[in-house]
Amino acid sequence: MNHEFPSDFVWGAAASAYQIEGAAYEDGRGESIWDRFCATPGKVRAGETGEVACGFYHRYPEDIALMRELGLDAFRFSIAWPRVVPAGTGSVNEAGLDFYDRLVDALLEAGVRPFANLFHWDLPQALEDAGGWPERATAEAFVAYAEAVADRLGDRVQDWVTHNEPFCTSWLGYGMGAHAPGHTSIGEALAASHHALLAHGWAVEAIRRASPAAEVGIVVDPWPIHPASDDPADVAAAWAEDGVRNRWFFDPLLRGSYPEDVLERFADDAPPVREGDLATISVPVDFLGVNNYSRRIVRSGPGGNPVDVPSPNGELTDMGWEVYPAGLYESLVRMHREYGVKSLYVTENGAAFADVRSHDGRIHDVERIGYLDGYLGAVENAIAEGVPVRGYFVWSLLDNFEWSLGYSKRFGLVYVDYPTLERIPKDSFYWYRDLIEASRPTESAAVASGG
Ligand code: FCB
Repeated sequence: MNHEFPSDFVWGAAASAYQIEGAAYEDGRGESIWDRFCATPGKVRAGETGEVACGFYHRYPEDIALMRELGLDAFRFSIAWPRVVPAGTGSVNEAGLDFYDRLVDALLEAGVRPFANLFHWDLPQALEDAGGWPERATAEAFVAYAEAVADRLGDRVQDWVTHNEPFCTSWLGYGMGAHAPGHTSIGEALAASHHALLAHGWAVEAIRRASPAAEVGIVVDPWPIHPASDDPADVAAAWAEDGVRNRWFFDPLLRGSYPEDVLERFADDAPPVREGDLATISVPVDFLGVNNYSRRIVRSGPGGNPVDVPSPNGELTDMGWEVYPAGLYESLVRMHREYGVKSLYVTENGAAFADVRSHDGRIHDVERIGYLDGYLGAVENAIAEGVPVRGYFVWSLLDNFEWSLGYSKRFGLVYVDYPTLERIPKDSFYWYRDLIEASRPTESAAVASGG
């Protein structure tokens, strides 16, 4: 497919601390809930852990060279809270901050804009021991951590994300038990989501204090929920699921209120909202990040509860997620038209496939190229309809630790040979490089436009 993007479109790739860094016990890093979860038998596939991961903590110069080869404008990474404040509250570990200082300098040196994300799920275990995100004190601790990071990096980092996918932090971690800390309580999930959003609002203010010119946003993960049929029961089930999965996060952030239907449904587990909280949560942001991979289709099951059904066209990635580019289009259009968002980035999109090294030593990942091509077409369509999408970050630069699925799911443009940590760019890497190159204004066009 031929693509045409605005000449100032930001081309990026994304990753997160626990999934790539390794060096779990180095330079004073504290324990995170993911270290604990991985060490708990039966929680993560094959007992795998992020102890070594991609070794990014030591190999980042090599990975930045790959970013340069790709021609990336931006790299979205996360900062590990337990490296910076090992006990969650209290003293700041300068050695932890030094790592991100070096990383930011190396990115800037390579002409790659750092998009720093303060929270991608690796909560300090000490805070979890004190109750974790269901406790308001965790949100208060987050502000002190955000201040420490912004004070150190705010002179160079211009683009900040407070939280990645608060749905996963709260529901996967505290409601469904699939992620650390592995709890299964609706009340905890709702309280956790409220405090994660509150932490976001407070952190926006803290970052702006340290770095007034910074752009600050949050990353949400809309999953379109489609009804399996026109039957009103299915339509109602899809709307209910959309409430929990999507509106529970979009409404407080962008409208300053929780959706009534979800509050009613979980009336016995209402989150501990205090006066002023919703004003804090809905503080205007400079951009909204959208992570999207797929959609879900649901029908009405027993008691009208939503039950997932398989997609009729059945093209799936290795995650079992349907390849459905129109879902990204729908999500971007929704955030703009329904919620009035005026500045968007696609902060994650990509696909896992069971990549293998061929006899020629290369990785011919045609399916990933097809996936990215289709989804970029969806972004283009949204832009053509006037949706203000400013950039796109592929998930991910490297194959990495895919949470409870361990190393079994490969999302990278670059293959990682885990026993040796060797990096091998896949065909999709070269495809993305060429696409970025082709989308840059030619010199003559730049001159003509005064650029
Ligand atoms: C997103 C996460 C990211 C990665 C991708 C596949 O939900 O933000 O860390 O696991 O899914």
